Amino acid sequence: MFFSEIKVSYSNGEYPVRMYKDFHGLRLELEKISNVSRFIIISERSISQTYNKYIESELKGYSVPIDQIFIKGGEKNKHISRMKRVFNELIDLGADRKSVIIALGGGVVGDYSGFIAATYQRGIRFIQIPTTLLSCVDSSVGGKVAVNVDKGKNMVGAFHQPELVYIPMFALSTLPEREWSCGLAEMLKHSLLAGGEMWQDFKSHERKDIKVDSEILRKMILDSIRFKASVVAQDEKEGGIRQILNLGHTTAHAIESLTRYKKYSHGEAVAIGLITALILSNKIGFSIDKVETVTRIMEKYNLPINDNSKPSDIIKHMQHDKKKVGNDLKFVLLEDVGKPKFAVTVSSKEILSALKEQRKF
Ligand SMILES: NC(=O)c1ccc[n+]([C@@H]2O[C@H](COP(=O)([O-])OP(=O)(O)OC[C@H]3O[C@@H](n4cnc5c(N)ncnc54)[C@H](O)[C@@H]3O)[C@@H](O)[C@H]2O)c1
Repeated sequence: MFFSEIKVSYSNGEYPVRMYKDFHGLRLELEKISNVSRFIIISERSISQTYNKYIESELKGYSVPIDQIFIKGGEKNKHISRMKRVFNELIDLGADRKSVIIALGGGVVGDYSGFIAATYQRGIRFIQIPTTLLSCVDSSVGGKVAVNVDKGKNMVGAFHQPELVYIPMFALSTLPEREWSCGLAEMLKHSLLAGGEMWQDFKSHERKDIKVDSEILRKMILDSIRFKASVVAQDEKEGGIRQILNLGHTTAHAIESLTRYKKYSHGEAVAIGLITALILSNKIGFSIDKVETVTRIMEKYNLPINDNSKPSDIIKHMQHDKKKVGNDLKFVLLEDVGKPKFAVTVSSKEILSALKEQRKF
């Protein structure tokens, strides 16, 4: 039995995000998907080694063939150049248009496998089984799938919604502390955008309250997904309101690429980017006291609030951002917690001054 279900609506229909205790339930879920020739699990070898025994025992004797393809983890491997081998393996396995990909892993596996599913034979179905906190609350929901090219992150991609998101909560029990922090950074982003109870939860809970089998964690995850789903339902293809989900990401992507994806994980870069965005938000009314509150929350969750790269280098890397229109940089800013504004024009001078200000926190 699943704990909870959230429906994600989009232009062509809807799909469920179901939170389960573990993998008991997967068989029933796969059986609900009709007309399947084979399932292909795409995962990192280490993740598969941890979870294969549970998946194998759940799917033992299953009537449809189930194959596995392994990919290397890490942001640097979420790269277009790594995809040729996987496409060839799919052909060797006999994958056809009725085959269904299962992405088992964090956001890297999800984005990578989702992009494979979006493009193999012009698009086949896929399922997300997120195993990191970040992928549960963010990357597995909403159908944005993309990979990196040498000149920039997530520059080649598609909108391709999954058939199902299956969250096995117990997978989070093996997550290293750093990955918890990353997930909490994206959840904090959602809470800043949504305000209300989600924001109160972030202010009041301590890191020790957020445990795998706690009701607090389940609620925070579900609230975060519900918020993201509500935004996706209004604007699937990011023509408008969905842009708010990029809060903090202009700086985050610049810092990730500037530091060659080695120094920070995505969530950590988002944490730094959120502070830049909040300082910039001061010009539309966001109070500096609240920036301080957010930095204290980040400290609670072991997140960085600053990067020591030269501000002018960070700005140079921002120029590659997809959200750039002409010479202007467009940012998502907040008038207040729960009051986002997207596509706010920000000058390089303002960014420079915000990055300098950030050093004082
Ligand atoms: N598509 C979207 O809408 C969207 C949204 C946010 C982020 N993203 C993307 O997501 C990626 C980041 O995702 P992530 O933070 O999950 O990183 P990740 O996929 O790299 O996973 C982080 C680390 O955790 C390990 N791991 C995964 N599951 C584990 C488990 N259960 N136990 C122990 N270790 C485990 C992985 O091997 C990896 O080393 C970035 O590429 C980012 O661009 C996409």
